Amino acid sequence: MSRILTGIQSSGRPHLGNILGAIKPAIDLSKQPDNESFLFIADLHSLTTIKDGPTRREFTRAVAATWLAFGLDTAKNTFWRQSRVAEHTELAWHLSCFTPIPMLNNATSFKEKSDRATGPVNTGLFVYPVLQAADILLYDAEIIPVGKDQRQHIEMTRDIASAFNRQYDEDVFVLPEARIDDRLMTIPGIDGAKMSKSYNNYIDIFLPENELWKVIKKIKSDSTPLEEPKDPATDITFQLYSLLASDEKIAEMRSLYEGGNYGYGMAKKAFYELILEQFAEERERFNFYMTNNDALEAELQAGEAKARVVAGQTIARVREKLGFN
Ligand code: ADP
Ligand code: TRP
Repeated sequence: MSRILTGIQSSGRPHLGNILGAIKPAIDLSKQPDNESFLFIADLHSLTTIKDGPTRREFTRAVAATWLAFGLDTAKNTFWRQSRVAEHTELAWHLSCFTPIPMLNNATSFKEKSDRATGPVNTGLFVYPVLQAADILLYDAEIIPVGKDQRQHIEMTRDIASAFNRQYDEDVFVLPEARIDDRLMTIPGIDGAKMSKSYNNYIDIFLPENELWKVIKKIKSDSTPLEEPKDPATDITFQLYSLLASDEKIAEMRSLYEGGNYGYGMAKKAFYELILEQFAEERERFNFYMTNNDALEAELQAGEAKARVVAGQTIARVREKLGFN
């Protein structure tokens, strides 16, 4: 039995990149009979960037609705909001007292974020990895499926946990391992760069049909005239289509490109229709949870009760060591 844990910040509505790159793979992993998954919404982490309450509430609901729409089994696994389990912030404090400042100074994700910042950088951004370590160590998680950019944060978690274990000469914490799936590709956005909410190039598959079509229409393409053959290998619409379509459909689309008399607009239409067809159920379930707040709350609160039991046991162990009991 492996204990798997991962979190997604509620800093936007999940886009196709988040779904194919993180949410779906985590749900697939959670379905394996030998795994037990702890999947949470890192809403406290989102405070490092988003300050507006209603915006965060909306994004938190959208992230929760996405996990549920994609079929997360909340009976088998544990699913919660980080902010509702107070042990996360308590453990983050304890761990911060075992975290050398130079370690945080070396965090590349902090450096990148502070380089991009226009105003003064907040302390939350600096101690972000400590809260992340608390998220992981609270649940004795063994495997942390994340993107490449998170490798260093998991290494830091191991270092902080080891420092703590050494101090008390005991294995208070389990040392987690990152699971970075190299086969997972980086999903391109509508401009061809990595799809990201920060680049405003993302596809929100839950948009109403007309708005979704407006976004798909904006996918960048070159100016090859309609009659001429087109190169599928360099076209963004073709790449996106290939992420969702069956091999047969991909081959069909390839020959249409190569045959000429097939415009990019037609390919975009086919991609748009494929999204609607393939995610019909998910779109419906997402809308259900977004409009039925009670159902969403019930799922989350049940998960929070389960999470508190596990987190409570760990924090009791930690308080004991630290002399806070
Ligand atoms: P964003 O870049 O939109 O801010 P996040 O950094 O919040 O996304 O990422 C949340 C999760 O989604 C991470 O696990 C990340 O690896 C995954 N992810 C984000 N964008 C992509 C993408 N374009 N392709 C594949 N996975 C992605
Ligand atoms: N920092 C992660 C990200 O931006 C989100 C996160 C917070 C996380 N706590 C975590 C991921 C714990 C894995 C485990 O993608």
